[in-house]
Amino acid sequence: MKKITCIIRPAKLEVVKERLGRDGIKGMTVTYVNGCGLQKGSTAQYRGNLYEVNLLPKVKLELVVPDEVVEDIIAAIIMEAKTGEIGDGKIFIQNVEDAIRIRTGERGSISL
Ligand SMILES: Nc1ncnc2c1ncn2[C@@H]1O[C@H](COP(=O)(O)OP(=O)(O)OP(=O)(O)O)[C@@H](O)[C@H]1O
Ligand SMILES: [Mg+2]
Repeated sequence: MKKITCIIRPAKLEVVKERLGRDGIKGMTVTYVNGCGLQKGSTAQYRGNLYEVNLLPKVKLELVVPDEVVEDIIAAIIMEAKTGEIGDGKIFIQNVEDAIRIRTGERGSISL
C-alpha cells in the first residue's frame, strides 16, 4: 500500500474529487491547509521579495491505495489539477506498513 498526499489548488478540489470518485477510489481525507513552494507564496514568478515567506491557501488530499493503482491515480490527479501555471501543487508518495478497518479488524489492502 502507498499513501498519496497531494497539495492542490482549492479551485481544483471539485474536479479532482469527482475524477477520483469515478476512478473507484475508496476513501480519502481532505484538509484545508496553507503552504508555499518555490515562490515562497508569491503568486507571480518574478514579483515580490522572496526573502519573505507568504502562505497561500491550498487543499491537501490524502489517499491510501493498493500499489497497483498508484500510477493511475497520479496520472488522474495531474490531468485534473494541472493548469501549467506556478502553484499547481505537488504529489508525495509514501509506503504504508498496514491499515486496519476498526469496525471489522480487517487488515491490509482489503481494509482500504
Ligand atoms: N517541499 C515541499 N514540502 C511540503 N509541501 C510542499 C513542498 N513544496 C510544495 N509544497 C506544498 O505544495 C503547495 C503548492 O506548491 P507549488 O505548486 O507552489 O510548488 P512549487 O515547487 O513552487 O512548484 P511551482 O513552481 O509549479 O509553483 C505549497 O503551498 C505547499 O503547501
Ligand atoms: Mg510554487
